[in-house]
Amino acid sequence: MLIDDISAVAQEAGEIILSAHDLTVKSKPGTANFVTDYDIRVQRFLQEGLLAILPDAHFVGEENDCTDDVFHGYAFIVDPIDGTTNFIRDYRASSISIGLSLDGEIIMGVVYDPYRHELFTAEKGNGAFLNRQAIHVAANPLSNSIICLGTTSYDRSKTDLTFTLARRLFDAALDLRRSGSFALDACAVACGRADLAFEATLNPWDYAAVSCILQEAGGKMSQLDSTPIRLDRPGSIVCGSAIAYREFFDNEFWKIKHTPFS
Ligand code: IPD
Ligand code: CA
Ligand code: CA
Repeated sequence: MLIDDISAVAQEAGEIILSAHDLTVKSKPGTANFVTDYDIRVQRFLQEGLLAILPDAHFVGEENDCTDDVFHGYAFIVDPIDGTTNFIRDYRASSISIGLSLDGEIIMGVVYDPYRHELFTAEKGNGAFLNRQAIHVAANPLSNSIICLGTTSYDRSKTDLTFTLARRLFDAALDLRRSGSFALDACAVACGRADLAFEATLNPWDYAAVSCILQEAGGKMSQLDSTPIRLDRPGSIVCGSAIAYREFFDNEFWKIKHTPFS
């Protein structure tokens, strides 16, 4: 099956991450934005492996300005290492994220955490799985929720917005978490370890795969102003269990001085 073939490529790529040593680190535009030789290597490995499975697919990857048409036919939307800063510091919270779209709609998502050997998968209409066991979002009210935040650390113009929203949510919930890999945060929501995740700006390769996993696990994802996510450009993201997501919008947490989010 297609999803098994894609998962096998992700798991093999995970071995490259686990075997990493003597990294070469370079800065990218913005603050605290890095790329290593392993980001490039893993992306190359994924591109070869995935296009061997679906040779006619388009391919979008974070590194090397790898953009392509995501609205016609199949397109892989890939983050070779989500959590590069963690990877550089051996913090051991990074993942490989592979979304597959068909004519502009995400139909499959695979996220692999090589450190925990956790494989999150979903196919549109067929449920979501962690290591092949079905997963589902939790059913906690916001007052009993764990909220994951992303800090958009590369773009400090979003800092006030991020922490104002974080403060509001902290006051309304149990506690906050920051893993450093948005894909892992959203997977934590999908399997009920957390309840809501948000970030002021992310790129399609950060959320393409998890959008499918989350939805198939019974959760919801959109931009912070409730408009749909975009596969062709960056945007804000909030995702959660159906309950936490609804409370987020019912309470208008996102309305901060009417500042646009993306
Ligand atoms: C980053 C991670 C992080 C999020 C950043 C992302 P990268 O991805 O997902 O959690 O806060 O905004 O860019 O750069 O490590 O692939
Ligand atoms: Ca990323
Ligand atoms: Ca990355």
